[in-house]
Amino acid sequence: MRKVLAREVISNQALDACRALREGAVLAGIREIRAGEPTGVFEAAFKMVVDSTLAMLWGGGGGSESEGGGAPIFAAEYRQAIGEMTVLLGRPNVSDAFPLLTRFDLQGIQGQATKLAKRFDCIITSVIERRLKDLEGKEGMVFKDLLQILLQVQGRADATGRLLSDSFLHFKGLVLDVASGGSDPATTLIEWAMTELLNDEKVMTKVVQELDQVVGPNNVVEEHHLKELNYLNAVVKETCRLHVGIMARVASQPCTVAGYAVPKGATVFINTWAIHRDPEFWADPLQFKPERFLDGRFDFMGSSFQFLPFGSGRRVCVGLNLAERLMKYVLASMLHSFEWKLPDGEEKLDFSDKLGVVAKKVKPLVAIPFPRRLGKLGCEVQF
Ligand code: HEM
Repeated sequence: MRKVLAREVISNQALDACRALREGAVLAGIREIRAGEPTGVFEAAFKMVVDSTLAMLWGGGGGSESEGGGAPIFAAEYRQAIGEMTVLLGRPNVSDAFPLLTRFDLQGIQGQATKLAKRFDCIITSVIERRLKDLEGKEGMVFKDLLQILLQVQGRADATGRLLSDSFLHFKGLVLDVASGGSDPATTLIEWAMTELLNDEKVMTKVVQELDQVVGPNNVVEEHHLKELNYLNAVVKETCRLHVGIMARVASQPCTVAGYAVPKGATVFINTWAIHRDPEFWADPLQFKPERFLDGRFDFMGSSFQFLPFGSGRRVCVGLNLAERLMKYVLASMLHSFEWKLPDGEEKLDFSDKLGVVAKKVKPLVAIPFPRRLGKLGCEVQF
């Protein structure tokens, strides 16, 4: 399952092939941002992250070919469900501390999770069934999205043309992993990057200057620009350093780690947040300094245990390529299209956070976007 995802579905090659679908969704999200109005940065970015994930997954909202393909039928519903799931995952559950209480579901968390799982299941089942219907009797028809690749990889049909129930279940799991796996952490990190940039004018200026140089003030950011945006890349890495949280592994067999006996089935938490702030490894660990990443010494693969926002080793995040692209692309598009300012009287930014795979902002960032003007020509960027 993991191999299918990593090698075939969200490999760099597969992601390159559906670049245009992501770009369309991000551009649409940028167009929806209202200039001059206080804007929730998380909400604006979340829409772009989820819509571009769904666009490349099944060509948009999930409509069938006969209904216009990309109609955003499910996108809003899906976004809402992911939002609710994130809130639910963030709620402390007494059953985690006292497993004997699990069956009583004292806080109703289990019940809500089951309902949400059913909603996801319904949406994904509809999308897949629509696609299968569209493909029926149309050999050789190609949709340029990941659902097509998934269907090919998974071997979709039995003699009646329907997915075998067992593979259908696995298949839905894969789709769910891609559709909802990293939207929330990726968006949270974009929100943190904006917070850090609004807090440091010099860093913000450097990012925007680089964007103007590489993309050009008149153009729209495209994904191929990303590899030339070295400073933006360093900003994203520095954001990951300071704002990822903890990760968990479950021991499949008894083992000893750093002298501690870990029994089979025990959950071990790795405090990446603390590792990334350890003064033994990082100079000025609490300061936001993207320059520390400019020499290319650290990658996202966790090659150095000093920097492992996506984990490391055999179970490193399979969505890494996608998450990296989305974070950089959405952030670059937001910064290139608008100059962001804090609302009057809100000069002091709030940096408090709460625990998770990434550390969530306690107080959501609200900022005002102003369309960027071309310095010399004095005209606004047009979309
Ligand atoms: C910025 C966004 C993201 C962050 C910070 C993140 C972080 C992580 C981390 C820390 C792990 C555990 C790795 C380990 O134990 O070594 C993980 C696993 C995983 N991630 Fe992500 N992730 C992100 C985005 C995504 C996306 C976009 C997807 C789906 C396309 C995804 C799918 C997965 C899956 C399926 C696993 C489990 C892998 C396994 O157990 O083999 N993640 N992620």
